[in-house]
Amino acid sequence: MPKKIRLGILGGGGDSLIGVLHRVASHINDNYQIVGACFNPDFAVSQAFAKEIDIPLNRIYSDFDTLVEEELKLPEDKRIQVCSVLTPNFLHFPMAKKLLDNGFHVICEKPMTTSLEEAKILQAAHKASGKVFALTHTYTGYPMVRQMREMIKDGVLGKIHKVDAKYYQGWINEIIHDKDKRSTVWRLDPKKAGISSCMGDIGVHAFNMVEYTTGLRVASLLCDFNYLYEDNQMDVDGTVLIRMDDHVKGVIRSSQVATGEENGLAISIYGEKASFHWEQENPNFLYVKSDTQPMQVFKPGHAYNSKLSLDGTKLPAGHPEGIFDSMANIYLGVARAIRGEAYNDGEFPTMEDGVRGMNFIEATVESSKNNNVWVKLLS
Ligand SMILES: NC(=O)c1ccc[n+]([C@@H]2O[C@H](COP(=O)([O-])OP(=O)(O)OC[C@H]3O[C@@H](n4cnc5c(N)ncnc54)[C@H](O)[C@@H]3O)[C@@H](O)[C@H]2O)c1
Repeated sequence: MPKKIRLGILGGGGDSLIGVLHRVASHINDNYQIVGACFNPDFAVSQAFAKEIDIPLNRIYSDFDTLVEEELKLPEDKRIQVCSVLTPNFLHFPMAKKLLDNGFHVICEKPMTTSLEEAKILQAAHKASGKVFALTHTYTGYPMVRQMREMIKDGVLGKIHKVDAKYYQGWINEIIHDKDKRSTVWRLDPKKAGISSCMGDIGVHAFNMVEYTTGLRVASLLCDFNYLYEDNQMDVDGTVLIRMDDHVKGVIRSSQVATGEENGLAISIYGEKASFHWEQENPNFLYVKSDTQPMQVFKPGHAYNSKLSLDGTKLPAGHPEGIFDSMANIYLGVARAIRGEAYNDGEFPTMEDGVRGMNFIEATVESSKNNNVWVKLLS
């Protein structure tokens, strides 16, 4: 077993949603050790959390700039090699850019930045750095999502006709209907979240899933947002018609006010020979349908799956693996890339996915604001 990769964490403290997913995922395949962090803008809170999870306090830093400054003073074989950026959206760009500029690899939460302009600057910084950059569209790590990608590449669906991706949640209902509460969450604050709430937070996952699985690119879109209240500047629901390469059409539906929905990401892909249906809340079942055959259900860990899919399972078939394992698969791919080992380009989303995602988010806002016009994405 090669030496563990020295991992730093930014954000993702005890008070966060996503921190535990990254911490557990980084441990799952025994590739990483967390050696430094700034978990929280409040130094005392950050230190208290480090104590709670038993990380030595000498490399818990008061802020991000100090982390970079102090780590650069350490010899290279002790220094943090890769940092996970798990803060609210507006901090992704300055943190990721400074990390790349100073020779660190980066694992970054989505949306990659708060604008396409920032995304392009980050892309240039990444190119100049020669470092690994991964964007954690978590759901691409599921074995059955990888299986869809590989089967589509192998032509199992034939020519694709239509794609329908949906990401429905209901959690913002509790907040959005209360005028006072609306100003308390960063996801509804354009200064912290960027120009979109719903599409930027979850619609972008559905967009990435469409491009990841089909290997096609969205060429143009038309979007209709719902803001629900006049004083709310951020979308909480949106429907996007998409036109892809090669006469493929489809829809991306996304909502944070879909009452009763939890984490309802699902995708259907219809081709001339067969179709796929997959749901995040039941990730170990991939339904394959056709007009002439009975429905098949593919499951992880069986020899009939692709190499990329099988690489994402650790236990024999029938032992359910889930969201922690999906993120762990992304961390595994990143470890291979950092170590200069061979890896499949489906193992983790990249800078290009981040730029595409920001292009998508901005296009949806532009379309909806201009009375639902078609907007082209960069080719
Ligand atoms: N991949 C996914 O499926 C997924 C799921 C949820 C969230 N996310 C993304 O993860 C990011 C964080 O989301 P969350 O829901 O965990 O947010 P959160 O508000 O729950 O947590 C944010 C964390 O960042 C810390 N933080 C804030 N400012 C900081 C600073 N200046 N320095 C250091 N730490 C700071 C906070 O203390 C907190 O620990 C967002 O960009 C979000 O879009 C991704």
